[in-house]
Amino acid sequence: MARQAASEIGEEGKEFLAAALLHDIGKLESGFTIFGRVFATLCCSLFPLRKMEKWAQKNKGIRRRLIDYAKHPELGAKLLRRIGSKEQTITWVLEHHSESEKWETPREIAEILSSSDND
Ligand SMILES: [Fe+2]
Ligand SMILES: [Fe+2]
Repeated sequence: MARQAASEIGEEGKEFLAAALLHDIGKLESGFTIFGRVFATLCCSLFPLRKMEKWAQKNKGIRRRLIDYAKHPELGAKLLRRIGSKEQTITWVLEHHSESEKWETPREIAEILSSSDND
C-alpha cells in the first residue's frame, strides 16, 4: 500500500512529503529536549532574532542554542543540502517560516504544508 501511494504521488510529491516530514530538522542542532523546545519557542515569540544575537555574541551556552533554534530553517536546509536532499525539499525547509509572499514553493503546495504545521 505504501508503495502504491508512493507511486501515485510521483517524484515531486516525494520531495514535498520529505519537506513536510523534515521541515523542522534544523531544531536538532540546538540540542534542546522537549522542555527546552517549549522554552525556546516562547523566547522566539517574545524576542526578535537580532536581539537574541546580541545576547549571544560572547556566549556559547543556552543563548547560542536559542539562536540555533530560531535559525532552524537555515540550519535544516544546510544539513539537507549536505546530505544531498532534493532542491524542493530544501526550499520548503528554508522558507517554512517566511511570509507567504516570499515562498518559492508552489503556492497550492506551500499552503497545505504550512497549514499542516502547527508550531
Ligand atoms: Fe519550523
Ligand atoms: Fe514545524
